[in-house]
Amino acid sequence: MKTAIVVNGGDAPGINAAIAAYARLAQEGGDQVLGAQDGFAGLLAGGLTELDRALLTRLSGKGGSILRSSREPVLSEPEAGDRLRSVMRANAIDNLLVFGGDGSLKHLLPLLKRWGTPCVALPTTIDNDVAGTDYTLGHDSACNFALAAVEGIRATAGALPGRIFMLETLGGHTGYLALAIAYASGADAVLLPEYGFDLDWLAGRLRRVVEDAGYALVVLCEFVPGIDQLVEEIPRRSGIRVRYSALGHAQRGAEASHYDRRVAREMSRLAWRALKDGLRLGAVALRDGQLSLRQGVMPLEDKAPPDYSRYARVNGL
Ligand code: F6P
Repeated sequence: MKTAIVVNGGDAPGINAAIAAYARLAQEGGDQVLGAQDGFAGLLAGGLTELDRALLTRLSGKGGSILRSSREPVLSEPEAGDRLRSVMRANAIDNLLVFGGDGSLKHLLPLLKRWGTPCVALPTTIDNDVAGTDYTLGHDSACNFALAAVEGIRATAGALPGRIFMLETLGGHTGYLALAIAYASGADAVLLPEYGFDLDWLAGRLRRVVEDAGYALVVLCEFVPGIDQLVEEIPRRSGIRVRYSALGHAQRGAEASHYDRRVAREMSRLAWRALKDGLRLGAVALRDGQLSLRQGVMPLEDKAPPDYSRYARVNGL
């Protein structure tokens, strides 16, 4: 069996660990693996490379992806199916192992199904926003990166009281990541794109927390509407200085956590087994605490919004 590995969309911690694990399984099972450079855009252009096992092992805990990714929607182009088929035929590729987030998986799997291209997908994004799975590879590492930042903020906040700290996380237009971080870090408020809030309510809540505890911590998602206004209005309405930090892409490039490295290995093993058994199309998903191979495309609807009861608990609602 010969598999081409394709990383599409945003990279995530754990991808390198999963590629390394798959390459090892393949080698031990007498199979071959190639990597596509630059996602599907690279694959359609014939950009395939051998995997350097030693380098992979050395980088397996690092964030990012040893195989460069792409966000180009090349599979929607006319003739994309024919081009893919001819690249696969020319390189004797039997099937694909695809890494992708919500956008990639919703869009790509139905096309691959239509073209009859054997493929298993691994849901990978720090955002944890893919419908059909409770977990996406990389989310735990991105949470841990943020928790380390929270510890730093708490140290300085406690040493020099009288300030409100706002910590912006990635997460795109979904708040799963920010909520997970806020809940685990015991933040005083969390702001998510899915749930609106009132500036006076927030200013009042933060003022009371600062009076009681010396400082307040707000975790917010990068795409909460009106962040500029928030940063201007909260000091005005609360009378307290606001200090703002954004984790940015350093969060996405975090080292893979123990959990993500373990999930990466297990996802790869399930994918390899399924491809070996001749599965036509599927994705690995975590449901009810169990990783398993889910046959067919992923659900096309969006995932249910972030847990409102946790959101309400963080915000004291
Ligand atoms: O992959 C998800 C994500 O990291 C989001 O959290 C973020 O909004 C987005 O990708 C950033 O994308 P880009 O790297 O293209 O700026």
